[in-house]
Amino acid sequence: MNTIGIMTSGGDSPGMNAAIRAVVKQAKANGIKVIGINKGYKGLIEMDCQELTSASVEDLYRKGGTILKTARYKNFKDPEVVAQGVENCKKLGIEGMVVIGGDGSFRGARDLTHAGIPCVGIPGTIDNDIVCTEDTIGFDSSMNIITDCISKLRDTSETLDRCSVIEVMGAGAGWMALEGGIASGADIMLVPEVEFDFQKDVIDLIKAKKESGQNYFVIVIAECVFFPESNSKHKKNKNFQYVNENGIETVEKFTKKFQEMSGIESRATVLGHIQRGGAPTFHDCILATNMGVHAVELLKNNKSARVVVVKDGKITDFDIDEGLAMKKPFDKDRLEMATKLNF
Ligand code: F6P
Repeated sequence: MNTIGIMTSGGDSPGMNAAIRAVVKQAKANGIKVIGINKGYKGLIEMDCQELTSASVEDLYRKGGTILKTARYKNFKDPEVVAQGVENCKKLGIEGMVVIGGDGSFRGARDLTHAGIPCVGIPGTIDNDIVCTEDTIGFDSSMNIITDCISKLRDTSETLDRCSVIEVMGAGAGWMALEGGIASGADIMLVPEVEFDFQKDVIDLIKAKKESGQNYFVIVIAECVFFPESNSKHKKNKNFQYVNENGIETVEKFTKKFQEMSGIESRATVLGHIQRGGAPTFHDCILATNMGVHAVELLKNNKSARVVVVKDGKITDFDIDEGLAMKKPFDKDRLEMATKLNF
């Protein structure tokens, strides 16, 4: 293999740049040229790209975001658009492609592979919702941001005897809310995977804590409990239906209702895109570097339609089709354990 392409696609995550750096350095060490595609699949169709040299990626180790930019490009679901992608790869001399992103990006990589361009996926997403891997680039960095933000909100809530209601990201999954809540000792974590009852699981629980002497509270909620109704993908989430039916369909409305019913002064905070920014943690720098090296080795050895994964703590790879077909069961026991532990 003489030339490979690399792109970042979907939501950016801290550590994507470190992965780009590792791919370029490893490729160069093996005499392989690397073409960086800007803005994911959109850039491939528009032939928006440049050659990446070792010098151009040298300083990327701890840089947040992605120098290749990213985009969500729905048109790539169309087989004709995929065929155009293959043609453009051929024009650019690209014989293999590294795609860094989440499961939406891997669907594109799978289709591009089946259409003739061998692809390898690297999981880069803060959501940690890719089933076939134990870890994704950006999750640790994002969780550190969330834990830090919650502990700051905790300080001011404690000072004023308030309840802080915090919405965190995570797309359609509750992993970020669960782990962020555990790491910061939240009183309640509300996630799409586990149904809740506002009176029993929120008001009564917090009141019981107040009666036992606690004066300030932290509630963490996964964003998709509140996703807009237009986002049909999440309509099956029962908590989403519940908040809509009960007129508490935003974190602000939820907080207002909570304040009315509990008598506890409360404030809502949406952490938003701050969760995706900044330098990657040490953990994500190492993970990104190891995954980048492994991806190049796969392409070099003519392996494609693979996702680089962490399994039993070690870097390995997994079939992309099988990985996409898997469903990740939510760890309800862990949520129950944390709710009891924090009482
Ligand atoms: O997938 C990463 C993610 O940050 C999700 O947690 C979130 O739902 C989504 O991207 C936000 O996307 P956008 O940046 O397009 O608003």
